[in-house]
Parts: sequence; structure tokens; C-alpha cells
Amino acid sequence: MEDLIFESGAISTITINRPKALNALNRAVLEEITRVLRDVRHDASVRVLIVTGAGDRAFVAGADIAAMADMEIVEGLEFTRLGHRVMHTFEELPIPVIAAVNGFALGGGLELALACDLIIASEKARFGQPEINLGIIPGFGGTQRLPHRIGHARARELIMTGEMFDAKSGCEWGLVNKVVAPDQLIPETRKLAEKLASKSGFALRQAKAALRAAATMEEDAGLRFEQNTFGGLFACADKREGMKAFLEKREAKWQHK
Ligand code: CAA
Repeated sequence: MEDLIFESGAISTITINRPKALNALNRAVLEEITRVLRDVRHDASVRVLIVTGAGDRAFVAGADIAAMADMEIVEGLEFTRLGHRVMHTFEELPIPVIAAVNGFALGGGLELALACDLIIASEKARFGQPEINLGIIPGFGGTQRLPHRIGHARARELIMTGEMFDAKSGCEWGLVNKVVAPDQLIPETRKLAEKLASKSGFALRQAKAALRAAATMEEDAGLRFEQNTFGGLFACADKREGMKAFLEKREAKWQHK
């Protein structure tokens, strides 16, 4: 599908490719993302996933307004459910997912970035939940994930005013991990992806699951989840190898199990 480019490898990349519509997400793109994520999930050779937008203007400027304009209630509900499924699938992928935000990340675009584990942003990136200006509210998870990530006060202001913010503010608020010059976005994102790919894939998977628990569980349950996960790792090859390598002062050779 030409609206989505998937480059497969140990570090795989999904590029939303509708630059003329600033990479807006329509049903077809969301369904194609679902299909690609299913393949990624079942391919043990993929260690890190990068998500970005084609062109130099937008990551994703939101859900496709032209497509939503004629939707009635049933289609609207189906569309939000599809979007939620896609964002949930990103969150539930067992590998780290990095959003490389090259430009506008608005509405569904910010919601897509929020479903990723890490965000690297170009100095040109602009974020926001402008749905209020269309007479709607965020529909791919923004009302829940944004306050979790940047706090209720700021999320309320952003969702109620629809105002945009820049990458520097996103970094100060704990949304963005790093801001880089536009021409450094892909090199810096790949550098981070390579660093992650050099770790034990199995330990990373457990770290991601435990970090997810911090967002989805009560603290007591999350702390128990961490204990059980930590304990479980002591049965695994990479824990034995990692500690042995440290004590022998050499690089670990991970088996990813
Ligand atoms: N859906 C469909 N098309 C979009 C789009 C979107 N979300 N965003 C931009 N486009 C299209 C424009 O219609 C325009 O198409 P034409 O050339 O055919 O007219 C093209 O992309 C370029 O956009 P602009 O001419 O508007 O570019 P600009 O530089 O003047 O403005 C912008 C850039 C500020 C990002 C502006 O395009 C804009 O405000 N876009 C809409 C952002 C938005 O409201 N996003 C939220 C969508 S709702 C949502 O996402 C709901 C949800 O949570 C699920």
C-alpha cells in the first residue's frame, strides 16, 4: 500500500506516506498499520520499531478530516474504535517503539506519538490536540494518555484550547525525549534504536511490560508485577549471561531469551 511504507529489518520503520494530506490517518491507513503490526509482532527478528511521517512538514496532522466530515454516529464510533485498537496495539507490542516526529503531530498524530515508548522530535515539530476547533474531542486516546504523560493541568489546557506547542516545550513537559535539528532526526533516532537493539530483547520486553503496568495498574499491583517479572528473569539465559559477562569484564552475548 503506497500510503504506508514498511521497511523491515532488526530496526524496522513504518512511514505514514500521505504528504499531500500531511499524513492524515484514514481508515485504510489505520487498517494497513494493523496488518503491519501483526507481522511485526510475530517476527522475532524485529527488535525496534520506528514510526515517522513522509515529507518535511508533518509526522501526522491528525485523523483525516475530509474522511470524517461525512461520517454519522455509527461510522464515527467504528472509526474511534479502529483508532483505539491501533494505538493499543502499538503500546502492546513487545518491542520498543520510537516516534520520530518530523513536523506536525496533531490530533491523531499526537495520539500516535503518545502510544509509542519514546519520542524524538525535530526542532520543527509542532504538537497539539486541536479537535476542539472541529467541534469534537480527541478520539484515539488523547484525553487519557496526554494527562498521564504531561499531567492533568497542562493536558486540560491543551485539549480545551486546542493550542499547539513546540518540541522544546514537549521536552520540558516530559513528553519528548530529545529535540534535534531536522537533518539529525533520522540519524539520531536510528542511533537510539541501535542502542536499544544491542540490549537483551527479552529483558527489554519485560521492562516495557512493567513500565506499562505503571500506567494501567494500581500501584500495589504494579509493584507486585515488578517483583514477579524481576524474579522470573532469574530463570532466563540473558540474566545469567549479563551478570557473568559483567564479572568477566566482557561484552554480553545476548540470546534474547
Ligand atoms: N485531515 C485531512 N487533511 C488534512 C489534515 C487532516 N487532519 N491536515 C491537513 N490536511 C490537508 C489540508 O486539507 C491540505 O489539503 P489541500 O492541499 O488539498 O487543501 C493539506 O493537508 C495541507 O494543509 P494546509 O494547507 O492546511 O497547510 P497549512 O500549512 O496551512 O496548515 C496545519 C497546516 C496547521 C497542520 C493545518 O493543515 C491543520 O490545522 N490541519 C488540521 C489539524 C487537525 O485539526 N488535526 C486534528 C484532526 S481530528 C483528529 O485527529 C481526531 C482524533 O483524535 C482521532
